[in-house]
Amino acid sequence: MTTINWEILHTQAKAIMAKAYAPYSKFPVGVAALVDDGRIVTGCNVENASYGLGLCAECSLVSNLIATGGGRLIAAVCVDGDGNFLSPCGRCRQLLFEHGGNSFQLMTPDGPTPMSTLLPWAFGPEDLEEFKK
Ligand code: THU
Repeated sequence: MTTINWEILHTQAKAIMAKAYAPYSKFPVGVAALVDDGRIVTGCNVENASYGLGLCAECSLVSNLIATGGGRLIAAVCVDGDGNFLSPCGRCRQLLFEHGGNSFQLMTPDGPTPMSTLLPWAFGPEDLEEFKK
């Protein structure tokens, strides 16, 4: 089992948050996640002059996960511009679910919380498999 060092994840989330490109909302976001092979992947939000095209920090994290070898997400810390734990938006919960499943844990003000609580009865890859049977 991979040990989760929440402090390192928090530090890395704050570090990548400082690199966010959020000139429109002025709401920088950073996220750092532990992968099942022990590496840490990070992401920050990247906005666009065409506002609706902005990418959330979790999108960037998932891109980095895949680009650096893939694997399963074990745990993550997501922060706002003050370094406080941030609640990922609904779309981003779905993105994280794809690569972490129900056991993936997110740090919240109430402590580590599994995806099964954050996104109950989530739609995922297994539902597509069910249909093919
Ligand atoms: N944002 C994220 O990066 N992740 C979330 O889960 C919530 C929102 C970003 C999108 C936008 O750039 C800014 O925060 C304000 O909504």
